[in-house]
Amino acid sequence: MERLKVAEVLKGKNIGENVLVKGWVRTKRGNKNVAFIALNDGSTFHSVQLVADLENQNEEILKKVTTGACIAATGKVVESMGSGQSVEIQVASIEVLGEADPETYPLQKKGHTLEFLREIAHLRFRTNTFGAVFRIRHAMAFAIHKFFNDKGFFYIHSPIITGSDAEGAGAMFRVTTLDAEKAPKNDQGTVDFSRDFFAKPTNLTVSGQLEAELAAMALGQVYTFGPTFRAENSNTSRHLAEFWMIEPEVAFNEIKENMDLAEEMLQYLVRYALDNCPDDLAFLNGQYDKELLERLQFVVDNKFERLNYGEAVEILKNSGVKFEFPVDWGTDLSSEHERWLVEQHFKKPVILTNYPKEIKAFYMKQNEDGKTVRAMDVLFPGIGEIIGGSQREENYDKLMKRMEEMHIPAEELYWYLDTRKFGTCPHAGFGLGFERLILFVTGMGNIRDVIPFPRTPQNAEF
Ligand code: 4AD
Ligand code: MG
Repeated sequence: MERLKVAEVLKGKNIGENVLVKGWVRTKRGNKNVAFIALNDGSTFHSVQLVADLENQNEEILKKVTTGACIAATGKVVESMGSGQSVEIQVASIEVLGEADPETYPLQKKGHTLEFLREIAHLRFRTNTFGAVFRIRHAMAFAIHKFFNDKGFFYIHSPIITGSDAEGAGAMFRVTTLDAEKAPKNDQGTVDFSRDFFAKPTNLTVSGQLEAELAAMALGQVYTFGPTFRAENSNTSRHLAEFWMIEPEVAFNEIKENMDLAEEMLQYLVRYALDNCPDDLAFLNGQYDKELLERLQFVVDNKFERLNYGEAVEILKNSGVKFEFPVDWGTDLSSEHERWLVEQHFKKPVILTNYPKEIKAFYMKQNEDGKTVRAMDVLFPGIGEIIGGSQREENYDKLMKRMEEMHIPAEELYWYLDTRKFGTCPHAGFGLGFERLILFVTGMGNIRDVIPFPRTPQNAEF
């Protein structure tokens, strides 16, 4: 018999038929006549109830049907008498595929803390919470590709190992095959990277943007979606050392179109989750965050607030709130400021533009005022910055001048500068932190709980 997934069984279209299901036992309870087994195979949030008449079952086998064990069961699908499920399976036979010793299985009981589950990240997939989170994560990855594909964007694979560290988005992880103890030295006594694998220093990428720009100047509309790495020692609930980023880049877009694209994409993604992940979201809403569904719907239904950085600074200064970090024109906003603007003041997502050039990257389009650049950050409730982006400086001379001011070596970025030399055009793009999106959509509080295997300072388990 071919296996039927639990998600299929629960649709209720197989009533009266004999089916084979396989999965992991969530719970077993019952009395001296009958055992009720909740079986979950990951295909849906819900488990299917197996009803086993003890009279017809081998006692030895049933003993091994414990929480966490993997079993295969055959039986007839019937309408359920109990509440809470539409159908159940009257068990004919059970085969135990993998036992889980109740004495040592760590998920024997329910109600573990998220901190405890982080310590057993290899098993936490088996909980309701992480099943829900990772099904939603998948749905969001799929929806991102769908969104861009439907709009005629092309998916570009930017390199993970990079020979340039010029973007300056964060501290980098060195990639080398040299032996740390016996690295060859040059005449100055420093490491001789000409004898390294790539004959030069290389790092893990912090962003695929600069490469995406090259592609956008030929293919028109492109996006990257890949892992990025930052070696900052930031132990917060919003930072990972390895995270995934989506970076669209569009020729002929200016800052206004860039904001429109970001807003449209975020609303599309949240709506996609509401439409396609109702069971998982309902669980998370009930379990962790009673306002989750309401907040998601609100983001879909309301336009984002758009204002200049300078206006935001004025609002913050006049707020009367005592922030941990004081704010004035020229300072970088920290997440307390961003979240106050979003959660207390505007009570909706906010897009800030026209930041001081001193606190933004070299490649951002310079404004006429000589002080600001066409940067844009999208700020979300509960998250702070979810997107960072800008219109790009397409003028060769202005870009060169800014690079000189910021001591960015032009010879290292000759390939980037070539786009401004040959057929340059206005263009714009942004980066969406994938895990920050998942934080928002799931309502989870810690970024370590929305990526299967988090990498953070002092932690690279598995
Ligand atoms: O603002 P960032 O540094 O922008 C860039 O890297 C640009 N190259 C993007 C572009 O214009 N193509 O990062 C973009 C987003 C942030 O808004 C945030 O959501 C996320 O990436 N992010 C992180 N997420 C998790 N952990 C970290 N350490 C992150 N750093 C940035
Ligand atoms: Mg940023």
